Amino acid sequence: MAETNTNPQTLWWAVARSEEVTNAKPINVDLGDQPVVLWRDADGVARALEDRCPHRRAPLSLGCVLGNGMIQCGYHGWTYEGETGHLKDIPNLKSTQKFPPLYRAKSYAVAESGGFVRISENPAATQPAVIAAALPLSGTEQVSLTHSEFLNALYDDPALVIAIRGVRFTPYLATELIEANGRLVMERNCQWAGPRWPAPFIPEFPASLLISTEPETGESKLIVRDADFKELLRVILAPVPGSRGVTQVRWRAKLASHRPGIMAKVMGTGAPFEILSAVDGAALRVLRPSVSVHAEALRQGIIDRRTASSQAA
Ligand code: FES
Repeated sequence: MAETNTNPQTLWWAVARSEEVTNAKPINVDLGDQPVVLWRDADGVARALEDRCPHRRAPLSLGCVLGNGMIQCGYHGWTYEGETGHLKDIPNLKSTQKFPPLYRAKSYAVAESGGFVRISENPAATQPAVIAAALPLSGTEQVSLTHSEFLNALYDDPALVIAIRGVRFTPYLATELIEANGRLVMERNCQWAGPRWPAPFIPEFPASLLISTEPETGESKLIVRDADFKELLRVILAPVPGSRGVTQVRWRAKLASHRPGIMAKVMGTGAPFEILSAVDGAALRVLRPSVSVHAEALRQGIIDRRTASSQAA
């Protein structure tokens, strides 16, 4: 889970991209140290249960999705319904026998929009804001950093954790990290990647990277803009804390179809966005915290105010 002092049970975590969840084969994801199995039922609705069979704890993700949309454990064939986790069938049970109702897999609330499948541990959690269109480019990476380490690296030196084709991140900020509408927002000046242009000491920046982060989940919107504030690339980045200190990062992106200037066109000559799963440990070790110095206090301030207002309501 995120190291921030918050209530993780009320949060919605983007634990998969929509296309990763099918009715052909269940998949396993982590939410902190909790294994979760995801699949689609017969109506195409994404379902999420704890990835442990209540019988003998076998991972349900090793089982299969039946034609009726329920998930069947691969060990002894017990079958569970996705919305509630109720046990629905035990193979070879005589019609006169009944199974004890205590067998029930832990279920998660599921919401899907914008090309992400989000889950919450709280079945009564308020549904997350709907993001209409899924951005067309997407990927998933496992990054060997904790959730907060990943976000702090993104703030202090994005080049350690992401790559944007044709763009070089500079140490110079257009705006410090501030709170804006309940999010953490900053903008970093960028240059085009290239051996000669512009010279690194010229304080002219043809592009910038805007980062806007939801303080509790770390889900972030990244926008690359040119000097005329024209959007060149938009990315939704969804880091989820995994087990053993690893962070699973899912992303979706869209490259603007019209990008004036030769260098902006370079962004479209290959994959425009990448998560760097292999973090340069030596560079990370000598990275001085800069922007991130203020991040935790800002984040906690927003969360404390949210908590106070929800308790007052
Ligand atoms: S462990 Fe799942 S049915 Fe036995």
